[in-house]
Amino acid sequence: MKILFLDQSGKLGGAELCLIDIAKPYAHSSLVGLFADGDFRISLQEHKIPVEILSNQAIKVNKDSGLLAALGSLGQLIPLINQVMQRARKYDLIYANTQKALVVGAIASLLSRRPLVYHLHDILSVEHFSTTNLRVAITLINQFASLVIANSQASKQAFLEAGGKSDIVEVVYNGFELKNYRISAESVIRIKQELDLQDKFIIGHFSRLSPWKGQHILINALAQSPENITAILVGDALFGEQYYVKDLYQKVTSLGLEDRVKFLGFRADIPQLMTTCDLVTHTSTAPEPFGRVIVEAMLCGKPVVAAKAGGVMELVEHEINGFLVTPGNPQELAEVINSCVHKPHKTAIIGQNARVSASLRFDVTTINQEISKLLHLLANNVQ
Ligand code: UDP
Ligand code: GLC
Repeated sequence: MKILFLDQSGKLGGAELCLIDIAKPYAHSSLVGLFADGDFRISLQEHKIPVEILSNQAIKVNKDSGLLAALGSLGQLIPLINQVMQRARKYDLIYANTQKALVVGAIASLLSRRPLVYHLHDILSVEHFSTTNLRVAITLINQFASLVIANSQASKQAFLEAGGKSDIVEVVYNGFELKNYRISAESVIRIKQELDLQDKFIIGHFSRLSPWKGQHILINALAQSPENITAILVGDALFGEQYYVKDLYQKVTSLGLEDRVKFLGFRADIPQLMTTCDLVTHTSTAPEPFGRVIVEAMLCGKPVVAAKAGGVMELVEHEINGFLVTPGNPQELAEVINSCVHKPHKTAIIGQNARVSASLRFDVTTINQEISKLLHLLANNVQ
């Protein structure tokens, strides 16, 4: 099957990492069209997935204003739509992976008469988007998409509640290459040495630095935890949220935690770093649509403490294969952290359970089969 994948971002966010795994089986006959250049393009090339930058024009990538900005500047988008349309004629379907890709893909799908698939990575609710933005997204999807792949039941549910059509939406979770999460003891020793954290209880937080990802919640919780606990914050501000990075540094200083918090920036060795941790935290203050970092930590056999909302509740069972806490509550997070420090045996069992359940549910081979089935069904129906 020949697929024209579209993504607005040049950066490596969760939706883009997910697309690499989805596009790989179609690499010989497909193309990924990006609306911006960046590390995502390099990563696609490393995976031998054909990629083309379809616009040199800087389109602002801001999650919330995305759709409206795209629609507001439809005039500016015409050359891009034109490029997409030209290419779409050589492919069987258009697969839009982000909201601006949806806008461009919808019009290109209409003009080129190719079916449109939309991979919904967001919870379409007012906690994440303006009401106008939601209305536009739902209208475009209902009008133009033949299939919506939602990244969790929570994302599907929000889509339906916002007025999305129920007969076009299917849930497919993100898939992961299981062997990438088996890390050697030597690697862990080396990383501990590099970070100078040999004797510490290490908590990891892996996410772009953004207010709703809630790194400040972990910093507040750390202030209520024993001295020998250190946190590593892995990730960078991907969408221009530099003010938040500044706030985080200030918080660390004002709480006197300079020796207990390390900002590592964006890293490519996530499984290695996760395996080095004693505990991984997820602190999103708004419902997380899926939460790749949670599954990745589980695959590394790590206990995860995650914010109980959105797709997270489909990933973690409290005190069985992880822990769930109230979003935005540092006190509760600190209590779970302290309990994990004091009950290492129970915590280790939860980490082992996490690896087993995540390996059974999120193997990329199985997930790609699910996607392939849906795409073939769609292709057969439109013929
Ligand atoms: N990630 C990464 N390097 C970093 C921080 C994060 O490669 O420094 C990856 C992480 O492993 C995960 C993805 O970025 O696969 C984030 O996806 P998630 O679904 O957790 O959140 P998103 O940012 O997409 O909302
Ligand atoms: C989005 C969501 C995240 C999800 C990822 C992959 O970036 O914010 O929760 O894991 O897409 O589907």
